[in-house]
Amino acid sequence: MLAGAAVRALGAVDEVRRPADPQAAWLTYSSVDAHHVFPVGTSVPDTMLMLGVSEIEASARDELQLGLRLMLHRVLRVAASADSLQANDVLVVGTEEEIAEWKPSLKIAKPLGPEGFRLRRVVAGKKTWLIVEGADERGVLYGAFALLRLIAEERSLAGLNVVEAPSAPVRWTNEWDNPDGSIERGYAGRSIFFDQGAVRGDISRIAGYARLLASVGINGCTINNVNADAKLLQAENLREIARVSAIFRTYGVRLSLAIDMSSPQSIGGLTTFDPLAPEVVAWWKEKIDEIYSVIPNFGGVVIKADSEGRPGPSQYGRTPAEAANVLARALKPHGGVVLYRGFVYNHHLDWKDAKADRARAGYDNFHELDGKFDDNVIVQIKHGPIDFQVREPGSPLFAGLQKTNEAIELQITQEYTGQQRHLVYLVPMWKEALDTDMRASAKTPSRVQDIVTGKTFGQAGGGFVGVANVGLDDYWLGHPLALANLYGFGRLAWDPALTSATIVDEWTRLTFGNDPQVRSVIDSMQLNSWHIYEEYTGPLGAGTLTDIIGIHYGPGIESSERNGWGQWHRADQDGVGMDRTVATGTGYIGQYPAALAAKYESLKTCPDELLLFMHHVPYDYRLHSGKTVIQHIYDTHYAGAAAAAAQVGAWESLEDKIPERTYFEVLRRLRYQAGHAVVWRDAVAEWFHETSGVDDHLERVDKHPNRIEAEAMELTGYAPVAVMPWETASEGRAVVCKGLGGCSASSTFARPDGWYDVAVQYFDLRNGASRFTLQVNGTAIDEWTADDVLPSDKMDGHTATRHVVSGVALHKGDTIRVIGAPEGEEPAPLDYLEITSSSASRPVRARVAAR
Ligand code: GCU
Repeated sequence: MLAGAAVRALGAVDEVRRPADPQAAWLTYSSVDAHHVFPVGTSVPDTMLMLGVSEIEASARDELQLGLRLMLHRVLRVAASADSLQANDVLVVGTEEEIAEWKPSLKIAKPLGPEGFRLRRVVAGKKTWLIVEGADERGVLYGAFALLRLIAEERSLAGLNVVEAPSAPVRWTNEWDNPDGSIERGYAGRSIFFDQGAVRGDISRIAGYARLLASVGINGCTINNVNADAKLLQAENLREIARVSAIFRTYGVRLSLAIDMSSPQSIGGLTTFDPLAPEVVAWWKEKIDEIYSVIPNFGGVVIKADSEGRPGPSQYGRTPAEAANVLARALKPHGGVVLYRGFVYNHHLDWKDAKADRARAGYDNFHELDGKFDDNVIVQIKHGPIDFQVREPGSPLFAGLQKTNEAIELQITQEYTGQQRHLVYLVPMWKEALDTDMRASAKTPSRVQDIVTGKTFGQAGGGFVGVANVGLDDYWLGHPLALANLYGFGRLAWDPALTSATIVDEWTRLTFGNDPQVRSVIDSMQLNSWHIYEEYTGPLGAGTLTDIIGIHYGPGIESSERNGWGQWHRADQDGVGMDRTVATGTGYIGQYPAALAAKYESLKTCPDELLLFMHHVPYDYRLHSGKTVIQHIYDTHYAGAAAAAAQVGAWESLEDKIPERTYFEVLRRLRYQAGHAVVWRDAVAEWFHETSGVDDHLERVDKHPNRIEAEAMELTGYAPVAVMPWETASEGRAVVCKGLGGCSASSTFARPDGWYDVAVQYFDLRNGASRFTLQVNGTAIDEWTADDVLPSDKMDGHTATRHVVSGVALHKGDTIRVIGAPEGEEPAPLDYLEITSSSASRPVRARVAAR
């Protein structure tokens, strides 16, 4: 149960609150005001003329019919042929070629770019044609979705004249789904593609997904984990995968597979997988031919090799280019491509070696191969040089390859950014990378977006890959607001010049309608969310500071050190940060073109937000902001946690304007996030306080006047234990209940009478559902079950959570007691109580004093 949940006023369920189908995501097509879309002098078409008959154009037709019916309550008649057309207001849909054939006078000399579209309104005598014209059939579908977007946003179509084409040919998602139905780094349930070692029997979710992808212009989807299971290439599995591909095809999405380089040996029975061995070359050629015989619109392959234990060409002394080209040549006759991942690094680095640096790996491994890849190979490069941390600079490899197609890999699934339990709109983070000017050319723009779209070096075969990891969850990604990231990825891939604000406003309008208050609240919650998350997690480019060798979720500050994974922040008693300078450090900065390298190398010009990525500095080093590094760490963590708490109130202001289920799904997560932000704040601030020995000027860190530690309470049955890592529990300790009948922890309230909020801080382990009761003077004022599914079965930064009981009347001398009843393996672990003056405007858990 949600503590503090306000009881809904009867009668508050108006049209807006009707249950919306969450699976429709941003394609809900709510009613719009037709007067805005078709102002005086224009009218809604009543007939649709379909000039083409392909599968993809049929999807466009169905979508337009659905959208116009739901948004404008207009059922379109589909004209059988151009000749039979009598109607005056007609929606005309077809390719450039089809339109020119139908009405040569409508042909426009300048052809559309591949997959592009033109939307226009043409008035000829009594006839009005609203024309959706695609460069090709995909362009038709994208044009249909674009028109529907304009209608959903209630834009006037009176002077319609829009011409667009996507920025690059590769606009793919990668899904890290395993054949057993699990998803690596997936946070939204099981796979929509696989189950129990094969393609699912029920693949009904796939069309819904393909439709969402097409609606934002995504044209490819790799359906299996980059840590690939070779068995998927076996004939019986390919036949099953063809069923998925047939659905994708109707939305113009090409299916692709991640492959295991050792397949010729592991499933092919050869004695080697040396990519240059003639029998291996022949095996791949035959396998690719076989794939196309069952999946004619196959897009190509994604390769993760020589990375994190995956087999690769290095085993035979071959380069990534040699391996990639073998596949590329097999794919070429069919029009397929190879996405070879630049994520190749050694995860057994010597952490004592001050010159070792994982960030160097991409450039070191690939720069020398520039020019050696075939033209249907694309090197797929994560946006930063490490691994999707909350803040990283753009990877220097983008400028390090000038004769090679490149795709930027962005991570939609929030592996290091709160795993869809925290609200983090990632588009502003991606924009930082895409807008980074590599200063690689004096003549042409060389922002990362210019490079991957081929503008800088003329390598125009690449583009954008987003690691999506959607699951069977109704909201596809778990957190309903996380869908803005999937939407935003597609929109950026289409047009990387779009701003974060434009993208999120589109998404909000399409998802929740055009109410100005809804737009303004949700847009600003989303736009602030990355910064908020960054504030309470990893500062100044130091990395996310999460549990690096585990699940990458809660705080685990030291986990990155003393191991070979190379995500080091090198914090010790004297200072913090990785020295990546050329002068004294790892030399990483020297991988950037000279002008950008000079900016990062100098402390004077290195931006504050990347300082600890590039430099090792003492704690009293002053930032450009004027603050010392250590005070910045303290201040941002307090500000971030406070801002996360404020997001809850912002969302609550929309209570009557959001479909009820979605409202509560989001509210539950935001409340949880506010509590977990406090866990993060305290863990990071106290770890740095302990390590640096420098006090917080504002005297907040390690001082908790409102806190009652569980181990300091009067305990019955409960026993104190140490928590690891220590910074994830207040004072490093908690209490656990080993007795079967339950335990209690009591304390006498010693502060003045008043209204208070009581936060009960505890650990909610995955392997049990303990029961907690909060009592005041023996009367239960709330009870709840610790049954959230947090990603750990230990007391640590992943499971630390809280339950807040708002608006409790407390008197000096009251006895406050928490009773914990263990369940399963979970010993009702309790960390502390935090009792603060109530800010609740409407106390919902009031205890009327019985005196
Ligand atoms: C991260 C992630 C892995 C994934 C890898 C990759 O390291 O944690 O689960 O396999 O990236 O992108 O290959």
